[in-house]
Amino acid sequence: MHWAFRRDLDRFTAAVIRTPVEDRVSWRALARRWELFRHILHDHHAGEDAGIWPALRAKADAAGATVLDAMAAEHNDIDPLLASVAEGLDRMAATADPDARAALEVRVVAAREQLGRHLAHEERDALTLAQRHLTPAEWERITKVFFERAKSPREIAALVAWMLHDLPESAATRLLAGAAPVRVLWRLVLRRPFARRERRVFRQAD
Ligand SMILES: [Fe+2]
Repeated sequence: MHWAFRRDLDRFTAAVIRTPVEDRVSWRALARRWELFRHILHDHHAGEDAGIWPALRAKADAAGATVLDAMAAEHNDIDPLLASVAEGLDRMAATADPDARAALEVRVVAAREQLGRHLAHEERDALTLAQRHLTPAEWERITKVFFERAKSPREIAALVAWMLHDLPESAATRLLAGAAPVRVLWRLVLRRPFARRERRVFRQAD
């Protein structure tokens, strides 16, 4: 998931810089695609806030609690930035405005940096707490309840396509080992249409 968040923000940054201001079709497609990114990120953070951090808080010492406080605060700080990028993309979809694009570039670069810092902080400090305090079975249970069960099959399919897009083959194989139905669904059904859509959305970024 973190890999795909970073991938998306790199692409959006390149697209915002390179898409001609008058290319409404691309800006509209980027605005819609940003909503997918935002929805998945919001859902991911909501699962962490509701499932993972509380389970860790019950076991963490004072230093651990500080890390968990920071995680929640960082999630809150990211939301307005994502909303401001959405507004900027909507504006570009409506009007060819070079000033609006310059403002949007500042916001999307800031979003990439801020989320990048948060993900790195989480990987370094919060996931270390998870490894220290949660057994694999507890981790499994939390991810099932807070990340998987709440979704419809259609949402899971969209998430799988998004997550695996452009992931290096060796990583995809490792990730899907033991999940044969998902592997088949992805390779035969989801992969190509998603890649086609991505090429359309980000055509000016490449
Ligand atoms: Fe997070």
